[in-house]
Amino acid sequence: MIGNLNHIAIAVPNLQEAAEKYRNTLGAQVGKPIDQPDHGVTVVFIDLPNTKIELLHPYGEDSPIENFLKKNVDGGIHHICFEVNDIIGSSKALAADGAKILGSGKPKIGAHGKPVIFLHPKDFNGTLIELQQS
Ligand code: CO
Repeated sequence: MIGNLNHIAIAVPNLQEAAEKYRNTLGAQVGKPIDQPDHGVTVVFIDLPNTKIELLHPYGEDSPIENFLKKNVDGGIHHICFEVNDIIGSSKALAADGAKILGSGKPKIGAHGKPVIFLHPKDFNGTLIELQQS
């Protein structure tokens, strides 16, 4: 079912500091901050040769990563995203298998403009998993 690792998302308390660390200390290709009001986050995309890193920072009130940052004051890995060929088929197969899909249970448009679902961390060893239509 799962294919390429599309990205690893890291929640950070200070977006500019984190972006500079990746750019200057780690020498990565770091993009500009992009506000995503629909998702309650500001994102900085970092392109690596084989995958991407997304630095996430809360945007607006009731950001979905607000609580995560309260528990992880230095930041931390928030989720990992795998690509799937058939997001609808994968959703159905996972639901039939008893996996809990967050939200409505139906795919919605994610940060990259493609349909995504999120799987509850309790079912996957404490890791929030995003599946994205490839
Ligand atoms: Co993501």
